[in-house]
Formats: sequence, structure tokens, C-alpha cells
Amino acid sequence: MAKLALVKWPDPRLKEVSKPVKEITAETRSFIDDMVETMYAENGIGLSAVQVGRMERIVTMDLGSGSERYDTEEVGDLIVMINPEIKEFSEEEMTFKEGCLSFPGQFSDVVRPEKVTVEFLDYNGKKQILHANDLLSICIQHEIDHLNGIVFVDHISKLKRERLLKKLKKADL
Ligand code: NI
Repeated sequence: MAKLALVKWPDPRLKEVSKPVKEITAETRSFIDDMVETMYAENGIGLSAVQVGRMERIVTMDLGSGSERYDTEEVGDLIVMINPEIKEFSEEEMTFKEGCLSFPGQFSDVVRPEKVTVEFLDYNGKKQILHANDLLSICIQHEIDHLNGIVFVDHISKLKRERLLKKLKKADL
């Protein structure tokens, strides 16, 4: 396994749409292992393939792997999703202060549907359906957004976005 380099804003790949995985090979699984290692090493609760420079529809998540910021009682379990598709969104919404490994140190309140139903292929290529709520639902939506070239700051007001990106630029100098 190897830790991969993160793709960070303003890398243009973050705005691109990722392609479906056609076949899950040993090489795909080896890449996913590297994604998982990278996610844990960076204390992220989720990671999408584009964030390590591969434009394929793969995400990894583990709510227990996050930094202390995520004060969650949920047991940390690794979830791997290949070609995930959200089939249902709830009408109820929730607000969560989101962050992203591609926007280090930056956080902003984002409003999203509170529950989702998602279909995907797991690590072994088996079709799965998951009903998620709360932080897991938010994380799923955030990561699948990445596969569609959408980042969390696309969900906030222009004013807040500009302020956040300015702070990020400053921190990067
Ligand atoms: Ni992100």
C-alpha cells in the first residue's frame, strides 16, 4: 500500500466529471487500498478518487477515521463505493459544518438532504443498497459530488465562498 498525493484546490481536475469503473480488477482494488491508506493518514472521513488524481467513480469513507472535530458515536467502519448512485433524497434537510481534504483547514456550513438511499458496487463488485442518515448521509453526498465535479463550496453563497477561498490562498502562501 502507498499513501497518495492529494489533489487540492484550485486544481482543475476537481471540476471534472469522473468516469464509471468498467471492470473491478486486482489493480482497481490495489488502488482502493491506497485510497484507504491515504484517507486514514490524512484523518479524513471520506475520499474520492479524483482527490488522488484518478478520474474514476470510486469513494472511500470511514466516519471513525476523522479528526476529533467529528464528535461521533458511530463505530468506524470502512465503506468502499464503486459507481455509487443516489436513488433517493429526503425532503428533510440538515446543516453540517463541512470540510474537505482538498481545501485544508477550511470549513463551512452546508445544507443538504438529511437522508439518502445509495446504490453502489462494493470492494468485491457486489451490488449494495444503503440507507444513510445524519453524518454518513452528508459524507456520501459530499463524496459523490466530487465524482460529478462539485465541491462543497459550490453549495454556499458566493460571498462566503470567496471569503473561504481567500483564506485558503493566504494559508497556502
Ligand atoms: Ni471533499
